[in-house]
Amino acid sequence: SNNELILAVETSCDETSVAVIRGGKHILSNIVSSQIDTHKRFGGVVPEIASRKHVESITLIMEQALSEAGVTFRDLSAIAVTQGPGLVGALLVGIVAAKSLSMALGLPLIGTHHIAGHIYANELVAEMQYPCLALVASGGHTELVLMESEGVFQILGRTRDDAVGEAYDKVARTLNFPYPGGPYIDKLAQGAEEEITMPRAWLEPDSYDFSFSGLKSAVLAAINSAKMKGEPLREAALARGFQASVIDVLVTKALRAVRETGAKQLLLCGGVAANGGLRAALTARCEEAGIPLLIPPLKLCTDNAAMIGAAAHLKWTRGEFTPLDMKAEPGLSL
Ligand code: KG4
Ligand code: ZN
Repeated sequence: SNNELILAVETSCDETSVAVIRGGKHILSNIVSSQIDTHKRFGGVVPEIASRKHVESITLIMEQALSEAGVTFRDLSAIAVTQGPGLVGALLVGIVAAKSLSMALGLPLIGTHHIAGHIYANELVAEMQYPCLALVASGGHTELVLMESEGVFQILGRTRDDAVGEAYDKVARTLNFPYPGGPYIDKLAQGAEEEITMPRAWLEPDSYDFSFSGLKSAVLAAINSAKMKGEPLREAALARGFQASVIDVLVTKALRAVRETGAKQLLLCGGVAANGGLRAALTARCEEAGIPLLIPPLKLCTDNAAMIGAAAHLKWTRGEFTPLDMKAEPGLSL
């Protein structure tokens, strides 16, 4: 049926999240408990601590998700969970919780790919039309994914080194901003009056791959050199130069991929989709080129379980269930 209730669990990194989704489209609840405050003092996610925090909060978040949705365990049709990629110890917490529920309630288990989740977040707010092209930009991933049809993923390009969010976070850290630093750099860049031009890594002319480590190193070198010489840092101008380079490469490659594949739609997803400069640039360039663009609202861009429920819906309709002995797959491919 198209009214099934999927309880979805996401614990791949530092967000403990449980959602209840009806018919793959309607979010009855989507509770996200962020561990950011815990990891902040270490300047990044500490895997061991992430696992422990997930264990502490998973059952409470689950209760909250059910009560906000106004349903009980008895009403559920299936249990979905992120199988990978992610931190193995973090993934395991959600997987064990999902398996236990599935076993106790006699409900099908649906293992889901985290990136498929980020992409399917779009289905919660609009209709995805195939073929479509997704630009996935997060702390762990930077990928251009072509979907010829539902559930079929082809990775056209990916980062060869740092993910884009990772580059943001590393630059922010050097400027002593708290983790995760992406939003701080974004704000600084948008308020900057001048720009220090930074290099762009286009790679081979026909490549859809990305590389952000050279750019990151260039910004870090500029910061460190100013510090050493006791010169003013010009943080804002650096942030603007960094962001301009990132956006230029992401937007240009994404639009070229849409043109060359004949995709009907461009989707932006992942935590970096929260970036104001990127949203604005992509919106403007897509309008110019007449390309329909989908960007989920912020809450569905960063890690959350609703997107996992949305991705699980297709598997539900196809009866593609996951055996109870499934494993966490930290390097799972799409
Ligand atoms: O998708 P996400 O929540 O987690 C992963 O799966 O990685 O993405 C988190 C990443 C972090 O690196 C964070 O700095 C970045 O998204 N981010 C941003 C912004 N908001 C979050 N990067 C740039 N500008 C932003 N406004
Ligand atoms: Zn993510």
